[in-house]
Amino acid sequence: LPIRASSYQHELVQTAKSIASPGRGILAIDESNATCGKRLASIGLDNTEVNRQAYRQLLLTTPGLGDYISGAILFEETLYQSTTDGKKFVDCLRGENIVPGIKVDKGLVPLPGSNHESWCQGLDGLASRSAEYYKQGARFAKWRTVVSIPCGPSALAVTEAAWGLARYAAISQDNGLVPIVEPEILLDGDHSIERTLEVAEKVWAEVFSYLAENNVIFEGILLKPSMVTPGAEHKEKASPETIAKYTLTMLRRRVPPAVPGIMFLSGGQSEVEATLNLNAMNQSPNPWHVSFSYARALQNSVLKTWKGHPENVEAAQKALLVRAKANSLAQLGKYSA
Ligand code: 13P
Repeated sequence: LPIRASSYQHELVQTAKSIASPGRGILAIDESNATCGKRLASIGLDNTEVNRQAYRQLLLTTPGLGDYISGAILFEETLYQSTTDGKKFVDCLRGENIVPGIKVDKGLVPLPGSNHESWCQGLDGLASRSAEYYKQGARFAKWRTVVSIPCGPSALAVTEAAWGLARYAAISQDNGLVPIVEPEILLDGDHSIERTLEVAEKVWAEVFSYLAENNVIFEGILLKPSMVTPGAEHKEKASPETIAKYTLTMLRRRVPPAVPGIMFLSGGQSEVEATLNLNAMNQSPNPWHVSFSYARALQNSVLKTWKGHPENVEAAQKALLVRAKANSLAQLGKYSA
């Protein structure tokens, strides 16, 4: 019984369900051209369209990827690109039963009046862009905004982040795209895990309040939260069990069970850490599908293996499958290091 009549309501619920399918998660490769340039620079490659395409082709043509990956988030350039043999990337994904998604936010800019915090741009023209992305084959969207704990966060920054996410979610649903709601609470800082929990509860309370006010269909969204961990510079590291306990506490207190999927970001955790933490969260049944939407934690080994050399493509694709399979097992709570 949806709370809002939308011409796409059934399709949205179906799309969200298929992305949140057992043993699968999201491959995030939606780096903007600038961020993709940083990844390429780490292996000594220039940030050219040809190099970005070669890298995305390696990732998106990995045979068997669909066994572990249900959705792939693309940057606009990639959504309209094809392989060097002329096959649309969108069709490569469909062939593996992977839903194509699109990053629709336009990035972060300083938020005047705040404590050196930022806000996320992209609402202007979003409806028409979303309709075009749908025509091109996208079925879900992503909007990433950030909240900084060392900078406060100020009430202004939290409200701006939450309201922007809710407006974006309503616009996406109106245009047939399942919105991934991502208020990333940055890892930076020396704060305790208790402080992260407190901030996460505040942020998600506001996000859900505004989602409801905007009549967003909860069955047709996915969340992309940060795990609740101590700050990266905190004196003690937390175990996967502790991170799972705090993160699930936060989710149970704030996220209605109508939401089909919780797809965590990796946020700078190592590949193995991200897998172990996800596995710990799936040791007992959850009301939602608790899974991954990792960028760095799925790509680090791939980049290092590839190094930009065509002869390394197959080995790099194997490296991607190793991480994807490990996270698939972690989604099922069956991973062991
Ligand atoms: P990471 O998993 O690297 O934190 O990426 C998160 C993200 O939002 C990419 O879509």
